[in-house]
Amino acid sequence: MISFTLNGSAVEVDVPDGMPLLWVLRDTLGLTGTKYGCGIALCGACTIHIDGVAARCCVLPVAAVAGKSVTTIEGIGSVTQPHPVQQAWIDEQVPQCGYCQPGMIMAVSAFLKTTPDPDDAAIDQSITNICRCGTYPRIRKAIHRAASLMGDNGPLPDSTT
Ligand code: FES
Ligand code: FES
Repeated sequence: MISFTLNGSAVEVDVPDGMPLLWVLRDTLGLTGTKYGCGIALCGACTIHIDGVAARCCVLPVAAVAGKSVTTIEGIGSVTQPHPVQQAWIDEQVPQCGYCQPGMIMAVSAFLKTTPDPDDAAIDQSITNICRCGTYPRIRKAIHRAASLMGDNGPLPDSTT
């Protein structure tokens, strides 16, 4: 049994220690917002937060999060109360197919906690997630909008951690 906190609630899973966390989230716990892209920690589709820090969970053994706090895209906002990054994504109409976007939003929400007013160079250096639809220009605009929203509204809420 491996225990951790998931989106603010305690969970316990009976799976092999080495099973990738992405499998556990999607197949065991039914949270399919986190996506499988490359499976080798390169594309960022599977980005989540572990203790508030962005991590790619497709190659991360579930045992690595024992006792930690995991947040997925399902845990950072809601339809009625979107996270500021989600609101900026809506305002800028960022997604095309949408597949990469949960990972993008998780990467950006963690990034803005440590870099609240990034320039384009900082965004390009830090947000290395891949979007096959090429939404990068709108992603940059939405990151600036989210930074501005957070500037108006105070600091980013902690991901349910
Ligand atoms: S699926 Fe994890 S980084 Fe691509
Ligand atoms: S919106 Fe289609 S892969 Fe990014």
